[in-house]
Amino acid sequence: MSKVTVVGAGNVGATCANVLAFNEVADEVIMLDVKEGVSEGKAIDMNQTAQLLGFDSRIKGVTNDYAATANSDVVVITSGIPRKPGMTREELIGVNAGIVKSVAESILKYSPNAILVIISNPMDTMTYLASKVTGLPKHRIIGMGGALDSSRFKYYLSQALECNPNEVEGMVIGGHGDTTMIPVARLATYKGIPVSEFLSKEVLDKVVADTMVGGATLTGLLGTSAWYAPGAAGAYVVESIIHDQKKVIPCCVALEGEYGQNDICIGVPVVLGKNGWEKVIDIKLTADEKEKFEASAAAVRKTNAVLKENGAI
Ligand SMILES: NC(=O)c1ccc[n+]([C@@H]2O[C@H](COP(=O)([O-])OP(=O)(O)OC[C@H]3O[C@@H](n4cnc5c(N)ncnc54)[C@H](O)[C@@H]3O)[C@@H](O)[C@H]2O)c1
Repeated sequence: MSKVTVVGAGNVGATCANVLAFNEVADEVIMLDVKEGVSEGKAIDMNQTAQLLGFDSRIKGVTNDYAATANSDVVVITSGIPRKPGMTREELIGVNAGIVKSVAESILKYSPNAILVIISNPMDTMTYLASKVTGLPKHRIIGMGGALDSSRFKYYLSQALECNPNEVEGMVIGGHGDTTMIPVARLATYKGIPVSEFLSKEVLDKVVADTMVGGATLTGLLGTSAWYAPGAAGAYVVESIIHDQKKVIPCCVALEGEYGQNDICIGVPVVLGKNGWEKVIDIKLTADEKEKFEASAAAVRKTNAVLKENGAI
């Protein structure tokens, strides 16, 4: 029996739980929120799609009842406030740090062996916070940002190439911020062929720029941050862990010398399996990519410093 808990049954959390159940990633999916009745209602609504969609997973919603989350294999943390138009992810730190810290501590009381997947923003800093306050082995703390940003990168690439997004490979590393993420255009391929064979530098530069503000573009259209792709990206990360798929997915993890970094959680390609993140794929970056990665790490560190100023760590 596999069990996954999703904390925060808002837009992203509920979408993630829905995808987890629909794809039968886990036998049991628990949704927990502080808002009385919301998780329960959404869980019943989702369970009522089971025979329509033909899945066997079961979803249970609870209000702040951590005992119901006991012995979860993976816990996805989406609780917190999302950004509004014009806000950066970094502006959410004050409120979300308190929420992520208390949620991580409560979860581990009942699921001491769980692998944590952090989605709440600013995600790189929330992942760093979770790693500091829980003291868990580094392989069990994973920030989800790169899976989403890479999916957006592949979407924009497929639009430019006028092709099926499933035929495109590409990844985004670095921080999960509008100015800190690094879509690695050099390594993007269409059916294994470098995309530079098909797209001009100008078009590729635009694809990269659109990817970087992909979240902000949707926040502008929706009035709040997006949820279908973020929720699905969370479920995609969980699936590789629960089913021990060993997929290579860019995730935010604690680095100890890889990419020349220490004491930071930031996005790099990792192998995800039953033990959490199992290996960092240390790509040899070009001088330009390295410079961008270092600038990205410096920006993430600046946001992490706020945790110390606030007394969160
Ligand atoms: N990492 C990513 O790629 C990514 C992508 C999209 C959104 N996000 C972030 O995910 C978070 C959630 O976004 P959303 O759009 O779902 O927001 P939302 O407001 O729709 O949902 C957040 C939910 O968290 C709940 N919550 C608040 N405090 C809680 C607590 N202590 N315990 C349990 N639940 C609590 C709220 O009641 C609410 O239902 C935001 O911080 C957002 O910025 C991250």
